[in-house]
Amino acid sequence: MSWIDIGALDDIPERGARMVRTRAGCVALFRTGATEVFATSNTCAHKGGPLAEGIVHGRKVTCPLHNWVYSLETGEAQGADEGRIATYPVRIEDGRILIDGDAIGKRSAA
Ligand code: FES
Repeated sequence: MSWIDIGALDDIPERGARMVRTRAGCVALFRTGATEVFATSNTCAHKGGPLAEGIVHGRKVTCPLHNWVYSLETGEAQGADEGRIATYPVRIEDGRILIDGDAIGKRSAA
């Protein structure tokens, strides 16, 4: 893995989200706890809603457009909805958020 620094942990409030632009497109970061962040595609699998503007609850996010709920751990839509968003490995180091650049690169090559 090649880890890319994409910002400070403290720039995202707890239970908040932020969108960052990468070479693979827009990635949504979700801070689900003091030292826990998940990264996924920012684009809802339903009709492309901006997931970083959704509501974070537990380890899930609700899309702001039509309320599909996704697991931030697996990217799977929950309940009766069927769909999946890409998820990316993340780690926190010295207060910085690092994302797996190889995973992002694979997506852009697809
Ligand atoms: S676009 Fe996300 S639920 Fe419809």
